[in-house]
Amino acid sequence: SIDQQVDALLSKMTIEEKVGQMNQYNGFYDATGPAPSEGGAKIKYEHLRKGMVGSFLNVRGAEQVRALQKIAVEETRLGIPLIFGLDVIHGHKTLAPIPLGEAASWDLEAIRQSARMAAVEASAIGINWTFAPMVDISRDARWGRVMEGAGEDPYLGAKIGVARVKGFQGDDLAANNTIAACAKHFAGYGFAEAGRDYNTVDVGTSTLYNIIFPPFKAAIQEADVKTVMNAFNILNGVPATGSTFLQRDILKDEWGFEGFVLSDWGSVMEMIPHGFAADLNEAAMHAANAGSDMDMESHAYVNHLVDLVKEGKVSEDKIDDAVRRILKVKYELGLFDDPYRYCDEAREKEMLYHEDHQKTVLDMARKSIVLLKNEGAILPFAKAQKKIAVIGALADDKTSPLGSWRIGSDDGTAFSVLEGLKEKTSNFTYAKGADVVTGDVNFVLELNENTTDKSGFNEAIRLAKASEVVVMVLGEHGFHSGEARSRTNIGLPGVQQELLEEVYKVNKNVVLVLMNGRPLALPWAADNIPAIVETWQLGSQTGNAIADVLFGEYNPSGKLPMSFPRSVGQCPIYYNKYSTGRPVNVEGNVFWSHYIDESNDPLFAFGHGLSYTDFEYADLKIDDSDPSGIKVSVVVKNNGKVAGEEVTQLYIHDKVASVARPIKELKGFEKFMLEPGSSKTVSFTLSNAELGFYDNQGEFIVEPGMFDVMVGTSSIKGLTGSFELK
Ligand code: IFM
Repeated sequence: SIDQQVDALLSKMTIEEKVGQMNQYNGFYDATGPAPSEGGAKIKYEHLRKGMVGSFLNVRGAEQVRALQKIAVEETRLGIPLIFGLDVIHGHKTLAPIPLGEAASWDLEAIRQSARMAAVEASAIGINWTFAPMVDISRDARWGRVMEGAGEDPYLGAKIGVARVKGFQGDDLAANNTIAACAKHFAGYGFAEAGRDYNTVDVGTSTLYNIIFPPFKAAIQEADVKTVMNAFNILNGVPATGSTFLQRDILKDEWGFEGFVLSDWGSVMEMIPHGFAADLNEAAMHAANAGSDMDMESHAYVNHLVDLVKEGKVSEDKIDDAVRRILKVKYELGLFDDPYRYCDEAREKEMLYHEDHQKTVLDMARKSIVLLKNEGAILPFAKAQKKIAVIGALADDKTSPLGSWRIGSDDGTAFSVLEGLKEKTSNFTYAKGADVVTGDVNFVLELNENTTDKSGFNEAIRLAKASEVVVMVLGEHGFHSGEARSRTNIGLPGVQQELLEEVYKVNKNVVLVLMNGRPLALPWAADNIPAIVETWQLGSQTGNAIADVLFGEYNPSGKLPMSFPRSVGQCPIYYNKYSTGRPVNVEGNVFWSHYIDESNDPLFAFGHGLSYTDFEYADLKIDDSDPSGIKVSVVVKNNGKVAGEEVTQLYIHDKVASVARPIKELKGFEKFMLEPGSSKTVSFTLSNAELGFYDNQGEFIVEPGMFDVMVGTSSIKGLTGSFELK
């Protein structure tokens, strides 16, 4: 068995070789060129030849990977193959929508397929491990990394995390087109205070167990995710990287995780500025003792761990445990059978930008679009459409809609909105109106949002006046979100809001097509603009997917995976909130839980999303007589004129409990297609898993009592009933 093979190999390893397996370097030099003669690259190269490196990240291309693998296999004493990791987040070359966009599809099979496609491309360039999915729950639109997750809800987030892991890892991890996944960032990274990336995280037991943990637990127990990445942040004062509670007690002991934990980039070293370790030596000691199995680029393990073991500060048992875990994943990937299994230049050529992948991402992109508003049925456009003005720099952009976190992608490879529209009609004219950003934009640069140039306004206004309908493509640049891209202003960057209002003055028939990596606060648009289409950043097929929706060739079916705030002052805002002791203004006085200048409600609620057809809900039935669980059903009818997909959502409220429960919690959903005039009975079973919760000792309990239930089309619209759990 693999375990026996691992033990046999482990018994031959020196302590230096063991620590080598726990070291991951960023590979930045040309592996196929001459050996580097100086600097950091030289040291890494020498370490590789001595068996002091277990993994590289950011090396890509079959040829490059093969060159490094050859050194590990042929030149080191034991010939242990390297594992190669990369951030393959929403595709490699062919790009699917950003993960938050995909989450809006609520379509688990499409999401699995999208991850599968990403794995096929990544594995063809020598990669056997992705640092995805990010399963951090977040409720704060200011945090730029919300683009990389599945939104605010732990139930939906867990389902999507499982689908993604299954897509990456496939049925057979040893196959050459499947890769190991990595659930990240354990834990609490999405709860950075004030939405500022890397900031302090301080959460109580209830939030930790009921909101933050579930997607990680599901990824491990339901999808057998092979690796977990820890997090940059401190959690209640202890850096996640140095947390024995998180990595040993919860992850490995309680949940039975058998894979390995990878540190985040430099997060072992960052325990020094956190004020948790005095120096790199102490940081290495804390991280290894706490159960961080592999060190990404802190150079802490490689430089200190051997001595720490010799001094008795880290036990060799702990090292053995870490190395066993790492070797096991390497065996499971088939790297010991064939270290070059993922290095096939012919497959690389064939698979990158494969035409089947374009179909996969088009399907995913269409499903990710959310119709937020459609007053007067301004959409969809008829084929013989009137004259359209298209306004906004993003309409003509072939790069920004690829989104953030797209390390392997090529700029300029997205179908733009203009290109998509050209496929449907020639009756449109374009004016930029205003830029979204100025200056250089890329993954590592700060963005300059202060675009003040209004010189394009006049042309845009003239065009809007001369047209019957206006499509305004506005929003964020793809790099306004992602890591370290927190914002305190979550409106439209630059002068786009002004442009929108000026255009609206001359033509009220505006369709606002939004591109953004986070929920935006756009109260004026929500009040005034008749149609709003949320398109996130949809990846390679952006323009085609948007044009399909605008012209009704695809009936939108997406539902928001995050609440959209009315103003940044409401953040964090989320539907599964608590009641408070003063939830309503019963006496007409000021002393209740509210803002004096803003409503408590979101602009657009979690789960909201319209269709070109109408779904009617009727006949809610609740049956508590079945011992297997509470049966809930509802009849959904398509009352409109076109076929459409609906996502029926079920929410519960445990009315009185030993620990107060949220006023609503998603506990089931189903997505299905209905032809016009037809109906379907949608059924759910609520068992202990859905009805229980974690108490403040972290114990899962199920308490009898009254529950409210709501089944409907969003978190705020549905049929309601109640039942008693006996
Ligand atoms: O995978 C990422 C992580 O999410 C953030 N820090 C860097 C890692 C590797 O690129």
